[in-house]
Amino acid sequence: METHRRDFLRTLSAASSLPAFASIFRGKAEWAGRVCTDFADTKYRDLRNQFPLLRETVDDRPLVYLDSAATTQRPQAFLAALDGFYLHDNANPAKSLHTLARRSANLYDTARATVARFLNARGPDEIVWTRGTTEAINLVASSWGGANLGHGDEILVTVSDHYSSLVPWQLAAGRAGATIRVWDVSDDGHLRLDQLDQLLSKRTKIVTFPHVSNVLGAINPAKEICERAHRTGAVVLIDAAQSVPHFSVDVREIGCDFLALSGHKMCGPMGFGVLWARRELLDAMPPFQAGSNMVHEVELQSAPTHFAEGGLKFEAGTPNVPGAVGLAAAVLFLESFGRKELWTREQELTEYALSNLRKIEGLRILGPRKANERISVFTFVVENRKPLDIAASLDRMGVAVRAGDLASLPALKRFDVTAAVRASCYIYTSNDDIDRLVAGLTETNG
Ligand SMILES: Cc1ncc(COP(=O)(O)O)c(C=O)c1O
Repeated sequence: METHRRDFLRTLSAASSLPAFASIFRGKAEWAGRVCTDFADTKYRDLRNQFPLLRETVDDRPLVYLDSAATTQRPQAFLAALDGFYLHDNANPAKSLHTLARRSANLYDTARATVARFLNARGPDEIVWTRGTTEAINLVASSWGGANLGHGDEILVTVSDHYSSLVPWQLAAGRAGATIRVWDVSDDGHLRLDQLDQLLSKRTKIVTFPHVSNVLGAINPAKEICERAHRTGAVVLIDAAQSVPHFSVDVREIGCDFLALSGHKMCGPMGFGVLWARRELLDAMPPFQAGSNMVHEVELQSAPTHFAEGGLKFEAGTPNVPGAVGLAAAVLFLESFGRKELWTREQELTEYALSNLRKIEGLRILGPRKANERISVFTFVVENRKPLDIAASLDRMGVAVRAGDLASLPALKRFDVTAAVRASCYIYTSNDDIDRLVAGLTETNG
């Protein structure tokens, strides 16, 4: 067995020494054989080979998957974790009942602890499982917003917000009689720090912004924004859907109050995500949805007052245990390759993609020009060509990209367009994938 694979298995078995995780990695020995030859570095070749779907073909051409900002592909370790759960541990979790129910509860708890550690939360009780970033933001807008927003208050959003980050606050503002204020980005796609102090005032109750824009790819200085917002007494919610998948995010180091992410953008489950929040805020917030598991001692005639502690208060009904197990498996998978190493490799890829895409005549990339200021998400327009036509042409060549308003029309309009093409990469994307994209664009341009 080659060294890297041995190291990789060692990392996973260290994780699986936690009893609850033993079954998550059942099936790891059946990982797919190596077929990828794209990467010069065997480490990345090995990594890519763990994504079976990347071996699909489209009209007999090898698939080039460049739609990872919409959803990533899943590694064998994730698939094995789900298999393991359903084949061996599936039960509605309960700590004091039968063996399977205890195993399921144990897995569920361990997954929460894994994700808490991954984000450097103070503890698992600061993790709220949600259906994804969208539900996490809706939870805050509804629960925290309902309790804390009033007439005349201000909510600071940004022109680069995804609809899932913008619309919940528009609706919350409407309910409370609060005002939405909008923060602009510079021509290179970063939030304009020079505007921040004028936008913030004693009326600002919450600041919400994307850590990384899904359109512009720009990485925003989250820590500085939090510090400046806190000085005026506002709380801060970070939409981390496009940052956590790409580089390490430490909620305590950043100093935010709420942070939202989606599992499916980081090799994890679709329809499953996280709201991280400071425990004091969670304790002060009313429940979001009501039902079993979030409440104790229910009587017929009085509204309940005894709620579950921490994140559990916001998780009504039977929990999505396989979602939690799958997300924890994805976290361990990413960590096993080294988050720093993956980020370094991504920046090399970004550099490569930027320099090659720029050679195409009439092509304009939105967002930062420098690789170290962005993630490997490339939104572009080509002179005299419709984005949807470009995406359709590329699809015929086996290259999967996204086109349209990217759920961020205000961000596109800021750059004088109403639709664009987005090619988005992830840890398994190779320089060859970029070459196929560039060749496809050159061919359709001609
Ligand atoms: C920046 C950003 N925020 C929020 C979302 C919404 O995520 P989800 O649909 O997983 O809830 C996305 C998804 O594309 C995103 O890119």
